Amino acid sequence: MPYRTIIEPFRIHTIQAIDLPTVEEREEALQGAGYNLFGLHADQVIIDLLTDSGTGAMSSEQWAGMMRGDESYAGSRSFYRFERAVKDLTGYTEVIPTHQGRAAEKILFTVMVSEGDVVPNNTHFDTTRANVEYQGGEALDLVEPSSPSEILPFKGNMDVDALRATIKEVGAERIPLVVMTVTNNSGGGQPVSMQNLREVRAVCDEYGIPLFLDACRFAENAWFIKLREVGYADRTPKEIAQEMFSLADGCTMSAKKDGLVNIGGFLALNNHDLSLQARNLLILTEGFPTYGGLAGYDLEALAQGLEEVVDEDYLRYRIRSTEYLADRVVDAGVPIVQPAGGHAVYLDAKALLPHIPAHQYPAQALAVELYRNGGVRGVEIGTVMFGRPGPDGAPDQAAPMELVRLAIPRRTYTQSHIDYVAEVVIDVAAGAESIRGYRIVEQAPWLRHFTARFEPVAE
Ligand code: F0G
Repeated sequence: MPYRTIIEPFRIHTIQAIDLPTVEEREEALQGAGYNLFGLHADQVIIDLLTDSGTGAMSSEQWAGMMRGDESYAGSRSFYRFERAVKDLTGYTEVIPTHQGRAAEKILFTVMVSEGDVVPNNTHFDTTRANVEYQGGEALDLVEPSSPSEILPFKGNMDVDALRATIKEVGAERIPLVVMTVTNNSGGGQPVSMQNLREVRAVCDEYGIPLFLDACRFAENAWFIKLREVGYADRTPKEIAQEMFSLADGCTMSAKKDGLVNIGGFLALNNHDLSLQARNLLILTEGFPTYGGLAGYDLEALAQGLEEVVDEDYLRYRIRSTEYLADRVVDAGVPIVQPAGGHAVYLDAKALLPHIPAHQYPAQALAVELYRNGGVRGVEIGTVMFGRPGPDGAPDQAAPMELVRLAIPRRTYTQSHIDYVAEVVIDVAAGAESIRGYRIVEQAPWLRHFTARFEPVAE
């Protein structure tokens, strides 16, 4: 096409109204929520970038599939359609539906991980880490080191030397599996290269260790490989995804991301014995193996979503819209994790607010300010989420990074919504010096970020 503008490759068929709370209403909402954006009601938010998980819009074909849903308890037609779609994409022989990603993780780690085991990952997502630790295992992050501002094509890659050193140190018998998260969510939504997957596979083969993908953003990762890795420009995203899956022994999937559905997930693998154990657990916790906690209509929507997500026009728009937001704020001098991730832009609050110490939560302060000024809701990924309270009332131990993630729901917002977000971010950044920190007045002993209450620090 001779024109530079990349358009949303869809028209809007159903709409949902956005409320436009005033500045005063937002201030009141903040106080009511104890300055914790998780405590806001959705109608108090103008643009909701809290997560890209389960927040996307389904297509007419998916809704049509919902009408075809077969709600049989055992052996529903919808299950077989779903199973065919997953097998066609991944090549794995055993397909187990679950209600979302963490349910698949819980089942996989229960059957594979024992007390004292070590599970290497490029970077664990928080529920993945929690599920490994719950089994008494150690969750080890082995992403290649880089700084937030460094522009590299595949910042999600695993440090293969570190993997090898870990195996030598703890012994292959204590490593039940290696996981690769594509794209690497907690590390800035950065992709993993095919070359890196191949190298990790080779090390796993050398020691007889199974390799699994945490595949929730597999299509976005495949698109980055197409754009950035030598030899893939002429391959389709689906072919690239198939090659990624072929390098692993199985995957867990939160279909709330690249399944383009609002609920759903699966575990898929080749090992028949493991799949039998997994199905037994599934029956205990999720449901019979041909529905796994989902309705037949959810399985239909998911089967259709897996086809739509590897469409080139969709992926071009998807990755470009995230990059577009990043370009706008970078042009205005706002520090972010570079380059833009697939599903989100991560603002670097440590660089923007050097006057706020970690124990006064600079990323939380920035997230609050984006809501206060523009009704934009992002999420803090910093010392509130990952720091630990200091001993005996000492200040918190800081997290390595202070980020605000602006995650973009799929096929939900238009370019003018994104323009608005850029304007809010740039405006808030221009007033950075006057932003003050927060202190926690109430917190839970774990996963405190969901429920903690804050107060502004006095001038
Ligand atoms: N793995 C990764 C890499 C994730 O990003 C998530 C969820 C999960 C597993 C768990 O999947 O939510 O379906 O149980 N991430 C969401 C987020 C919640 O906001 O990044 P789930």
